[in-house]
Amino acid sequence: MKSRDLIFIAIILAVVGGLYYLSTKNKAKPLSANTPEHLTVKAREDCLKCHLPETLAALELQHKHPGKWRDERVECLLCHTAPQGARAQYLKMQEVDKLANLIRSERIRNKRK
Ligand code: HEC
Ligand code: HEC
Repeated sequence: MKSRDLIFIAIILAVVGGLYYLSTKNKAKPLSANTPEHLTVKAREDCLKCHLPETLAALELQHKHPGKWRDERVECLLCHTAPQGARAQYLKMQEVDKLANLIRSERIRNKRK
């Protein structure tokens, strides 16, 4: 391999690495599962009851929050994802439902005997 090719490969790797690094920076944190309300709340009005606009404005001034939170058409959940637990909880609810149906149909069958 020529040294020119090696330099070319090195440049490609640097660019890809740099883009990857940038994509990990400044990501909106997912909601934590510690706060029970995080599992149910969806609307930005409800988020703003706990995360007061004054606090977010202060964070924005320190360049720790994008200004987009002010836009009423943009839900907070567009950037912040719901906690992991929310999905697990939903799946659990589906399982309980299935189980309940199974028991119900089993009972009906037993009665017919
Ligand atoms: C009942 C009050 C309450 C509501 C409603 C609420 N939060 Fe929170 N949130 C908290 C508290 C308290 C914390 C800090 C403790 C924690 O991490 O759970 C927090 C932490 C966070 C964090 C930081 C997590 C971290 O890892 O640092 C984000 C992001 C967040 N909330 C976003 C939201 C969004 C978006 C909504 C609306 C969908 C929302 N919260 C609704 C009380 C609330
Ligand atoms: C355009 C995307 C976007 C929207 C919309 C948005 N956020 Fe954020 N938020 C971010 C990013 C990015 C960070 C992390 C910034 C950082 O860590 O430097 C953040 C950080 C936070 C934090 C954590 C601050 C800390 O102390 O670490 C809270 C709380 C939060 N946002 C709440 C909200 C609430 C409530 C709303 C809706 C009113 C909202 N965000 C809307 C992108 C967004």
